[in-house]
Amino acid sequence: MSQEEGASILNPMIPSDADFSPPTVGIIGAGQLARMMLQAAIPLGVRVRLLAERADDGAALVAPDVTLGRADDPVALAAFVRSCDATTFDHELVDADALAALEATGHGLRPGAGTVALAQDKRRQRQLLGNLGFPVPPHRPVDAPADLLEFGAAYGWPVVAKAGRGGYDGRGVWVLGGPEEAEDLLAQVNPAAVELLVETWVPIERELAVLVARRPAGEVVAYPLVETVQIEGICHEILAPAEVEPRLAAEAEDLALSIATSIESTGVLAVELFQTAEGLVVNELAARPHNSGHWTIEGAATSQFEQHLRAVLDWPLGSTALQAPAVATVNVLGRDAVDPLHRLPAALAVEGVHVHLYGKAARAGRKLGHVTALGQDRVEVRDRAVRAAGLLTGAVPAGSAS
Ligand SMILES: Nc1ncnc2c1ncn2[C@@H]1O[C@H](COP(=O)(O)OP(=O)(O)OP(=O)(O)O)[C@@H](O)[C@H]1O
Ligand SMILES: [Mg+2]
Repeated sequence: MSQEEGASILNPMIPSDADFSPPTVGIIGAGQLARMMLQAAIPLGVRVRLLAERADDGAALVAPDVTLGRADDPVALAAFVRSCDATTFDHELVDADALAALEATGHGLRPGAGTVALAQDKRRQRQLLGNLGFPVPPHRPVDAPADLLEFGAAYGWPVVAKAGRGGYDGRGVWVLGGPEEAEDLLAQVNPAAVELLVETWVPIERELAVLVARRPAGEVVAYPLVETVQIEGICHEILAPAEVEPRLAAEAEDLALSIATSIESTGVLAVELFQTAEGLVVNELAARPHNSGHWTIEGAATSQFEQHLRAVLDWPLGSTALQAPAVATVNVLGRDAVDPLHRLPAALAVEGVHVHLYGKAARAGRKLGHVTALGQDRVEVRDRAVRAAGLLTGAVPAGSAS
């Protein structure tokens, strides 16, 4: 049978009945996002293959098909990508040029190499989104110490300096109150090495996020706007839907859909936003499932992980409808080296909570899992999720009155 006869007229990625075999989706990285994608793949019959750095990475512990290798090793990366029908990402710490070379030889990267290059580079994001007319704070790259000091003098202190690459959970974000703090930072980090940028300090009223998904055929969907509660740069809670004026929610949704369409992303795209007195400001993009979307596993008709797989395979996208009037997700952030599994029974005694543990070694400040609660009332669901997460971390002593 020729290639043309074999391909479905609906979708060239799905062969006709005669030679149908479930596609294999490769995931680069084996952290909690890969672990939750794997869970979503099972009911769809999609095979998942992981490129894991270590055999005890959270997803590698539970996956049947694991290749051990480093995402920054071009040989391992190329062999892995060639072995899969389509390849997606658990993280974006991959050499963008190596990805572009693989893409040029016809290997299916979803999202594509250009989107990954954008997602891994905050400088590039600020510049591109600004050029496309999306609201971003005034910013500039810092190539020499004078760039930072001049920016502070021009726009006023405080300013926010950021590592262009490799930051997460607030690591690589520095609020600088004045020239002395700028000097201190410059004594510690080499601006060229971290690809430093500087932007104005935004007076944030609320942090919001919109998750959208786009498939190569062009279909895009948005999930309801959520509020994220960040403490010292770390996301602690996600509340869905965000309690904002419907007009603002619609504006945020339009903004995120239009970013996904403009950059032609594939898969889930998380758009982090700041709500300010002057309107919405785009913070950063993540071109993969994201912490701000973990609530969708139980709280939306289609979880972000299933949605991502559908989009990666260019299959029809699913409904993003809320499953309850209020959904709260609270992260389980390690406080000590005690595995939250030891405290699981106490957390499961909290009415109706959904516990997700990622199989990671416990450490203070590390995201070890999350808890989601659904219900009628925003305060009530948040209380329940906070309590169960606190029981898991030890912040709430077991046996304490509820
Ligand atoms: N320009 C700004 N003005 C004020 N606060 C900011 C600014 N930029 C970032 N922040 C604060 O720092 C937090 C972390 O910033 P950002 O999202 O850029 O860092 P990150 O470490 O890459 O985060 P993530 O873990 O989401 O990848 C934001 O959620 C926000 O609370
Ligand atoms: Mg962020």
